[in-house]
Amino acid sequence: MVALCEYRDGTTCHCVASRAQCPQPSLIMHIDPVSPVIGAEVSGVDLARPLVSESFKTIHEALMTHLVLFFRDQELSFEQHKALGRQFGDLHIHPAAPKDSAHPEILVVHGDASVKFVAGDTWHSDVSCDATPPLGSILRVEQVPTSGGDTLFASMYAAYEALSDRMQRLVRGLTAIHDGRQYYVGRYGGGNLRDGEYPAAEHPAVRTHPVTGRPALYVNEGFTIGFKELKPAESQALLGFLVRHCGQPEFQCRFRWRRNSMAFWDNRCTQHHAIWDYYPQTRHGYRVTIKGDRPFFDPSREPRATIAL
Ligand code: SIN
Repeated sequence: MVALCEYRDGTTCHCVASRAQCPQPSLIMHIDPVSPVIGAEVSGVDLARPLVSESFKTIHEALMTHLVLFFRDQELSFEQHKALGRQFGDLHIHPAAPKDSAHPEILVVHGDASVKFVAGDTWHSDVSCDATPPLGSILRVEQVPTSGGDTLFASMYAAYEALSDRMQRLVRGLTAIHDGRQYYVGRYGGGNLRDGEYPAAEHPAVRTHPVTGRPALYVNEGFTIGFKELKPAESQALLGFLVRHCGQPEFQCRFRWRRNSMAFWDNRCTQHHAIWDYYPQTRHGYRVTIKGDRPFFDPSREPRATIAL
């Protein structure tokens, strides 16, 4: 893992010190890893303002290295939040959630005493049931419970790498079936469907990350219903195993939200689980989601140590 720090002159360093120990007083942006596997807290950047090219490069590179980035004390209007997302790609519209007509790209994440579900309270990669699932998501939480409401994130690079060679070979030859109906039907109902129906898609069970070239397990509890090449009983057994495997704490980090915290995660190589342990308290936030590409698996692409932007 590399911690990248950015200085006022736009250069970066690769020190691995915590912010307090960083030897460079001119530091403006600091990337502080949360665990060796996944997650880093980023300080010294105001996400409400357009990112200058060096800051964009530093954040993008840090996202590729740490898979999910956390930011504190960020106050953004909807327009600023959407503008931030657009610096990384076109914005995605949720296929089933209700939308504000002025801001259809904003997904409201809300829990209180009156709701029967909250978004994301099971392990998933956002909208993996879309034919071209989102590249990443940027969530800002505005209201937090007195305790609880943390989000767990897990590296699917680490989950894949931890499988035996034999199991890796089996899984990377499979096509996973993802279905939005199983997850969305009891939550959002069918009244706000983007395409008039629930999305469903087939994706490689192991996908090659288009930027890093690393293989990541792309199977999740929220949306995956089975594998095209297997018999139903085999499919359910393997799915159950992989879902349990992905939930191992060694692949995870856990983020404790405060008011105006933000998280930016890469959906192509992570899963997350929003813990609903704060009922009947209120937690409220807004998510902008960035469009991605069609997942692929390329056996000829070896994992690379360095990252090409
Ligand atoms: C989600 O986007 O899946 C919700 C995440 C969260 O509320 O922490």
